[in-house]
Amino acid sequence: MPKKTQHKSSQSNVKRRSANSVIICKNVVKIYKSTNITVTALNGVDLNIKEGEMVAIMGPSGCGKTTLLNCLSGLDSMDTGSVSLQGMELESLSDDKLSEFRAKNMGFVFQSYNLLPVLTTVENVELPLLVSGSSAKEARKRSEAKLDDVGLLDWKQHLPGELSGGQRQRATLARALVNDPAIVWADEPTGNLDSTNEIEIMDLLTDLNKKNNQTFVIVSHSDYVGGRTNRIIKMKDGKVVKK
Ligand SMILES: Nc1ncnc2c1ncn2[C@@H]1O[C@H](COP(=O)(O)OP(=O)(O)OP(=O)(O)O)[C@@H](O)[C@H]1O
Ligand SMILES: [Mg+2]
Repeated sequence: MPKKTQHKSSQSNVKRRSANSVIICKNVVKIYKSTNITVTALNGVDLNIKEGEMVAIMGPSGCGKTTLLNCLSGLDSMDTGSVSLQGMELESLSDDKLSEFRAKNMGFVFQSYNLLPVLTTVENVELPLLVSGSSAKEARKRSEAKLDDVGLLDWKQHLPGELSGGQRQRATLARALVNDPAIVWADEPTGNLDSTNEIEIMDLLTDLNKKNNQTFVIVSHSDYVGGRTNRIIKMKDGKVVKK
C-alpha cells in the first residue's frame, strides 16, 4: 500500500521530522507458552521509528499488534531481541528504572479507556503527574490545561460514567499526554467510537503531534486512522510485512 498523507497536519509533520530514531527494535521475538500450546506472537520484528513520526500498525486480528506495542513499550518482556527508546536499551533498565522511564517519557491510550470510575475527570488526568512526583498544585494546573486542549475543561468535575464515549476517549488522551511524553502508544484509540468521534480524536492526535513533535505509534484496524498517519506498518503472523 502506498504511504498515505492525506491530511495537512500529517504532511507538515513529515517536513518537521528530524532524522533521529526514537524507537529502534531488532529481531524481537515473543512466544506465549501454555501447557500444550505455543504461540509465536512476534517472529523477528525489526523497526525504526523517527522522532515526531506518527505511524499506524495495522494487520489482521491476532497478528501481534498489541503484543508488539506491549514489548516495545516495556509493558511486557520479549524472548529475544532488543528495543531501544530514545537511545535507552530497555534490557539495561531495572524494573524500577523502567517504570520511572515509562512514567516520564511515555503516554498510553487504550480502547477500553481505563479511567478510574470513582475519580473525577481532572483527577484521572492528574494521576500520571502525581505518580511522577509533581506537586498537587502543578498537577492540577497542567491537567486543566490539557483538558482544555482536548475540549473537556467544562467537564473536569464529572465522573467518567457521566461522559459520552468520545468524551471519555478525549479524557484518556488528556491523561496520556499530560506529562508531555516523548512517545505515545495507542491501541485502537478509536475502536469504540463512531466516525464523527473517530475524526475528532484523529484531529486532536494529529494537532498535538504537530504542535509538540511527539512520536505516536497507533495500532488500528481503521483505514481512516491509517490514512491520517505518516506511515503504515503492516503486520501478518507475527512479522512486519510492510514498513
Ligand atoms: N497473554 C497471552 N497468552 C497467550 N497467548 C497470547 C497472549 N496474548 C496474545 N496471545 C496470542 O498472541 C497472538 C497475537 O495477539 P495480539 O493480541 O498481539 O494480536 P492483535 O494483532 O493485537 O489482535 P487484535 O487485532 O485482535 O487486537 C494471538 O495469537 C494471541 O492469541
Ligand atoms: Mg490487539
